[in-house]
Amino acid sequence: MLVHVLADTSEKLFGLSSLFGGQFTVAGERLDVEAKLPHAAAAVVVRADLRAVENIAALKRRAARFAKAKKRIFLVEQTSHFCISQAYALGATLVLPGKIDVTKLLAALADPGHETGSTSGISQPDNAVEAAATAIASMFTSITLGERVDVAGPKEAGRKITNRISEHGLSDWLATVRRHHEGTFQHCLLVTGVAVDFGLSLGFRNSDIERLSTAAMFHDIGKARVPLAILDKPGRLDDNERALVETHPATGYHVLKGHRDISPEVLDAVRHHHEYLDGSGYPDGLCAENITDIVRILTISDIFAALIEHRPYKPTMPRAAAYEILCGMRGKLERALVASFKHVALTR
Ligand SMILES: [Fe+2]
Ligand SMILES: [Fe+2]
Repeated sequence: MLVHVLADTSEKLFGLSSLFGGQFTVAGERLDVEAKLPHAAAAVVVRADLRAVENIAALKRRAARFAKAKKRIFLVEQTSHFCISQAYALGATLVLPGKIDVTKLLAALADPGHETGSTSGISQPDNAVEAAATAIASMFTSITLGERVDVAGPKEAGRKITNRISEHGLSDWLATVRRHHEGTFQHCLLVTGVAVDFGLSLGFRNSDIERLSTAAMFHDIGKARVPLAILDKPGRLDDNERALVETHPATGYHVLKGHRDISPEVLDAVRHHHEYLDGSGYPDGLCAENITDIVRILTISDIFAALIEHRPYKPTMPRAAAYEILCGMRGKLERALVASFKHVALTR
């Protein structure tokens, strides 16, 4: 397999190329040099500082060639929302932030399932993942830059996720997302998939599914204002860090408030997805009578998705164990809904 390696310095290019040694054929290219490299690379691996405008411009110039590679892996040095978003916006199919994890990188290159097929247009499944990742990326970038959030992109991505899940099921979606994405992006994609599948299993009408998928796509948008070092911190958060994380529902609400394409139900779900029926949630400590059905469904989907996420520092929890935890949250979640969720959690 031919791997096309791009980097912004000779040192990075050399370091990266040497990692692939005997396993793959490597063609290297420095971003500031316009080289004539083969067009047939099966994978592109990029390591560059995505805060630098010249690197972004250089990558955009190569976009057409990039699109032909089925795997487009970006090794992002900075673990910031902005750089990760930028990588997805530049067409990444997988972003690995921080220090290079050689095992993970080689596994991603060798994994036959990690492909996009975007050039052929045949591969509907992965178009949904790409569309959703790009929509989330542009959402996070807008917030980082203080710009107005695009609503149409995430809504359309929600529709694609719904089609994909109706056709291929939840398990397939969970596996694909976990292979392609890290951290908050992975979380948003998993929650949307779980919530959509929950809605489908409850026999919701299309309009309700759309409301649910939009709410799920946007639910953690406020996390764009929480440093990744806190969101991705292994282990317990201290009180200040926890307080900062808990600002995200209200932040999301304020960012989306006044947007004419966001319905009041979606806005309410963004603000209240961490509320519990017994009043012990945040930010408003709402009780059962003030928590709507869409919020109850989103909250169950959110907790379940967070439990089954792939995190670099802990083993993945099996779906059955995650469901047991939901069952143990007596008084906080609606019992009847948790019972209905069993089917989604364990069998779909
Ligand atoms: Fe949240
Ligand atoms: Fe969440």
